[in-house]
Amino acid sequence: MEVPCVRVSREDGEATRRRLADADLIDDDYEIAVEDGDLYIPVTDPDAVAADLEVVSHVVAERETQTTPADLLGFDPSYERLGRAALLDEDDDERAREIADAIVESDLPLETVLNKASKVKGETRVRDWELLAGEDTEVVHREYGCEFALDLAEVYFSPRLATERNRVVEQVADGERAFDMFAGVGPFVVPFAKRGAEAVGTDVNPSAIEYLRENARRNDVTDRVTAICGDVREIAPEYEDWADRLVMNLPHSADEFLESAVAIAGDDCLLHYYDIQHEDDPFGPGERAIRAAAEPAYDVSVETRRTVRSYAPHELNICLDVRLER
Ligand SMILES: C[S@@+](CC[C@H](N)C(=O)[O-])C[C@H]1O[C@@H](n2cnc3c(N)ncnc32)[C@H](O)[C@@H]1O
Repeated sequence: MEVPCVRVSREDGEATRRRLADADLIDDDYEIAVEDGDLYIPVTDPDAVAADLEVVSHVVAERETQTTPADLLGFDPSYERLGRAALLDEDDDERAREIADAIVESDLPLETVLNKASKVKGETRVRDWELLAGEDTEVVHREYGCEFALDLAEVYFSPRLATERNRVVEQVADGERAFDMFAGVGPFVVPFAKRGAEAVGTDVNPSAIEYLRENARRNDVTDRVTAICGDVREIAPEYEDWADRLVMNLPHSADEFLESAVAIAGDDCLLHYYDIQHEDDPFGPGERAIRAAAEPAYDVSVETRRTVRSYAPHELNICLDVRLER
């Protein structure tokens, strides 16, 4: 069967396979193929593969030993994987039950099945889940070489942002000061610290901060991570003029926090500002809000205007990388 594969020379095969496994991108439904000195490693999401790797379409064999949920159901169910959990988005209870049973019965290493029971809501952006299989809603997720424990019923987390987070992480330099204003369980803060940054994360959700501390321990970066529970607007004065890099991942309302961002920014600071806007002008509102908050104290220049993903019909999740220079 022809599927998207990463093509890599045999010498680089194992290192690349490990990189893809760390990012949870290997498609276990297919065998890795070897041809003419190259390895073809099947991947689940070609768009999420790092830009330095080559993705091609290639014929590989299906794994014969593995019974998949599709084998049991007779159709290919749609779900996301997060650690050993499968995350469904099914309105029909009966169909959700049927898919959950097939997932657990299959040979995939999945023991928990959760169905979305609400949208993300409130200040902490947590959603309700229906537990269809497994013991609880806690998972351990691996992303680009870091390990994150988290409880989906208590904190916000989206594996879909892994590639975007890694794009930012790869820019971080040893010794820089990085501040994540809406840190969650630490998917920016922990890898920032792994690259040698002094990283601070704030969050109003006490459970997210507990997990952020645990994840710093799991990834051996406690000495470079400070996790603070509270409203970032109240914490900002303690970090005035501090940051070389700022992350604001609270789409829909980040603009309300720009005064605090400007207070935390140092003399030369790169701001990663996430927003959700209509496709007609996805970058304009964010850029105007940042200029209104930072000028004339700072020179403001937009270094990147990036569409992260489509969020809803005609709505885009975007990121602006904005340099603030005093
Ligand atoms: C969209 S989540 C992003 C979490 C994380 N950066 C990630 O990528 O997974 C936004 C987070 O901001 C936190 N939050 C909301 N209002 C806040 C505030 N005023 N101060 C600090 N954190 C806040 C929420 O609890 C939530 O964990």
